Parts: sequence; structure tokens; C-alpha cells
Amino acid sequence: MIYVYLVGHDFRYEVNELIKAFFFGEDIVFIDNKDQYDGEGILIENSLVYNFGQLNSTTMVYRNNKLIFKYSVEDIEGMKIEGEDIKRKTRIGIKKSIYEALTNISDITAPWGVLTGIRPVKIVHGLLDEGVADEEILNIMTNQYKLFPEKANLILNIAKKQRKYLYPLDENRFSLYVDIPFCPTRCLYCSFPTCSIDRYIDYVDRYMDNLIYEIDRISELMKNKQISTVYIGGGTPTSIPVKNLEKIIQAIYKDFGKKKIKEITVEAGRPDTINREMLEMLSKNEIDRISINPQTMNDKTLKLIGRKHSSQEIANAYYLAKEIGFNVINMDLIIGLPSEGLEEVRNTLKEIKNLNPENLTVHTLSIKRGSKFKEKMDEYHLESQNIIEKMLDETRCFAHNMGLSPYYLYRQKQTMGNFENIGYSKEGKECIYNIAMMEEKETIMAAGVGAVSKIFYPKENRIERVPNVKSLEEYLNRTEEMIERKLLSLEIK
Ligand SMILES: C[S@@+](CC[C@H](N)C(=O)[O-])C[C@H]1O[C@@H](n2cnc3c(N)ncnc32)[C@H](O)[C@@H]1O
Ligand code: SF4
Repeated sequence: MIYVYLVGHDFRYEVNELIKAFFFGEDIVFIDNKDQYDGEGILIENSLVYNFGQLNSTTMVYRNNKLIFKYSVEDIEGMKIEGEDIKRKTRIGIKKSIYEALTNISDITAPWGVLTGIRPVKIVHGLLDEGVADEEILNIMTNQYKLFPEKANLILNIAKKQRKYLYPLDENRFSLYVDIPFCPTRCLYCSFPTCSIDRYIDYVDRYMDNLIYEIDRISELMKNKQISTVYIGGGTPTSIPVKNLEKIIQAIYKDFGKKKIKEITVEAGRPDTINREMLEMLSKNEIDRISINPQTMNDKTLKLIGRKHSSQEIANAYYLAKEIGFNVINMDLIIGLPSEGLEEVRNTLKEIKNLNPENLTVHTLSIKRGSKFKEKMDEYHLESQNIIEKMLDETRCFAHNMGLSPYYLYRQKQTMGNFENIGYSKEGKECIYNIAMMEEKETIMAAGVGAVSKIFYPKENRIERVPNVKSLEEYLNRTEEMIERKLLSLEIK
């Protein structure tokens, strides 16, 4: 048990997220009174106080009632980070003092320093916007945010690669996300709101009609704005019948004008939903960017995670897609899957090398609430943080050797070892939608179950989320309300 006692502030959420990186899976309890610590286990005491006109944060760590480490960050208001937001500086200062104390008392390394958020690259964009030089950005990232130099370099390089796709910012530009919430089976680790296509096949026509209605209405709402990219994801869009998916794609073209769309992606995701008829339909409709996601190329693991397809089917689907002529194929992998060690990851990478995709997205397993995996975690063997790190190192070297460079990065909560997800791409084959969505510098209008629209306010550099409902039945009954929500948000804008 880890006890946490905060004095002079109540940044519980942020502190909890940081401590979790050092004590993954352990119970963390916030106490309001120091007496509630029974003297066993660890107590982390953090206080925020003004001392001689300076705001300071001090962390003291006790083990079995004995003080074992103390660290202070002084003059928090004078810290150099992006912007001058005192609340943000205070949060960073508090986390920095806790970080320094915990790195000293634990064997765990935390390469992302005090950063616990999903979008670390955004901070670099903020600094680049202020005109801060590269050297100084690296300095801030390593000294204030405590990132390891390789992570600081990584996000600086990614931000620089992204800028030509994001800037100049344009409040009239938007992208469209369309969600198809059906899959052949549910994967062990998945927490997305998707339904089994076999059980819900009778809902598909109605879903398509409502979805197209929502897309039509979005096009009316956005008629004076300029479409940028389209992403059809899910779920597994290719799990619905070919004719349904084709109608959805054609509705998008009719509403927004095919020529105006810079890029359109369809997640074909599961190879067990891919056949010649489906791929030819996508190709005929000028979709030239798809995802075929292995997650792993090891058959034993595929079975364990409930994918219900073999590695051979992944390769077959890939070769078929190449034969039909898709220009960009993305492949998703997950590192840290149960029963996978370095050998298994090496095997996956060897197989991917033969396929040679234009994009590769490497995720670290995240143990999500709502997944079957979370419920039965004890039944599986998971690798240690050190091994995960080695596996990720291998994927980085592999991507580099394959001529793939990192172009977007995000982190998820509950990720093993607090690592990251990286999208790699061959030069010029980057998925613009992924960049826009991740960096939150463009409006995303989203249709379908669980889809989240994000309205961008460039002057305030802020996003407002407008979520759709997550259940299929609710969506079918409340489609009009999903449109009203967007209308309301846009009107306020
Ligand atoms: C939104 S999912 C949809 C993709 C598609 N349905 C599929 O599974 O092939 C996008 C990707 O997120 C990754 N992912 C999903 N759940 C995850 C988890 N719990 N931990 C890490 N990565 C995850 C997988 O690599 C997946 O391909
Ligand atoms: S195919 Fe993708 S969306 Fe569907 S259950 Fe598996 S991970 Fe989730």
C-alpha cells in the first residue's frame, strides 16, 4: 500500500498518475491526516508552501515510518516552461519534486519524467509556437519535465515532422471521423464500444441509415468550412457487408465532394474481414489507405487474444491488398501481449519486414477497464518493465532499419511501464488524420457510436469535446440528439 499525504494543494489526480508509473498495480491511498498512515509501507508526503516569497514544493518519502528521502523544488513560479500559466507551473513543480524523490528510492525508471498526459508532443508545439530554439526545448523537456534525452529528442523530431501538416492553423478546416462499431469477435484487451457482427447483423442497415443521416447533417453544419481528411474506423469497418460500407463511403463523397478530400483512410483492421470483393470495392472507390492489423505475427498469441485468424491470413490479406494496388497500408502491433517475450516480438518484426508496410503503429499493451483482460489479469503472464523496454527498443531499431520514421506519438492510461504508442511512416506517407487528431489543432467532426467530435478554438488553443453515446441502441434512438449536441457547440463557437 502506498499512502499519499498532500499539504497545501489537492492535485490528487496528477499526483496519482505519476505515482502509478513507479508503483504499477499497487494500491495508492490519499490520506487527509498523517495519523492515518499506520507506519507500514510507504508514505509520500508532498507540501506546497510559500517561503520568503517563493513557492516551493517538498516531497518526503517514509518507509516504515522512517524518512528515507527528501527533495524540494524551489521558486516554482520562476520555472521556464511553455506559457506563463501559474497553475500549470505549480502542477509541474509538485510532480517534479515527487518524481525526483521516487527515482531515488525506486529501481523503476520513468523515461517520460513528470509527464502523465496523453499528448506530450503538444507541449513541444507550444514551445515551437513561442519561437523557443531547439536546444532550449530539449533543455526544458529534460530539466523541467525530467524526460530522458531520447524521449525529448523523439518528441521534438515528431513535432517538427508534423508542423507542415498542421500549420498555418485554420479554424475553417476540419476532418471527418466515421465509426463502424462492429467486429468479428472481441479481442481480449479491447475496451472499445463495438458489437459482434454475427449477433448484431440485423442492426447494420439501420445503423448505416442513421450514420448516413448524421454525416449528411454534419455536411450541412460544415458547409462553409473546408474538409481536410476522412477516417473510417471503429470497430472494424470491413466487418459489415460490402454494400453497406460502399453506401457510407459514397454518402461521404456526395456530401463533401470527393475531390475536396485530401486523404481518406479505412481501417480494414481484422484480416478475417478482408476478401477480394471488399478490397476491390474500396479500391474502386479510391480509398488508397487502409490498415491491416496483425497486433502480433505469432499464432499462439493471436489465439490467446481472441483474434480468430492466423498470421498467414494477415500475410495473405496484405499481399492481396498490394496486388489490388493500395498505396499505403498501415499495420498495428501491440507490445507486451500476454505470453510474448523478446523472441516472439523478434518473430513478428521479421514477418513484418517481409511485408514491408508503409506505416507501422506500435502500441504498448494498456490494461483497460471494460476489457476481458482486466477481469482475468491474474491468469496471464506479463513481462517486466525492463523486458517491455527492450522489446520497444527493438521495434524502434527495426522501424529505423525499414526506413520508417516516427510521425505521431501518444500515451494511454494504464499502459504497462508507462510507455508510449508510436506511429511510424515511410517518408511522405504519413497519415494526416492521425496527426490532426492527436495534436488537437483542427476541428474533427465525428459520426457514429462512441465517436467524439472535437471543436478547435485556435485563439484559445483549446478543444471542446462533443461525444456521441457509446451504445448502439442508444445511438439508434438518439441520432438527432447527437447532431443537436454538435450544433450547440458550433453555435457557441
Ligand atoms: C481503435 S483500435 C481498432 C483497430 C482494429 N479494430 C483492430 O483491432 O485491428 C486501434 C488499435 O489500437 C490498439 N489497441 C487496442 N486496444 C489496445 C490495448 N488495450 N492496448 C494497446 N493497444 C491497443 C490495437 O493495435 C488496435 O489495432
Ligand atoms: S478488432 Fe479492434 S475494435 Fe474490434 S474488438 Fe478487436 S481491438 Fe477491439
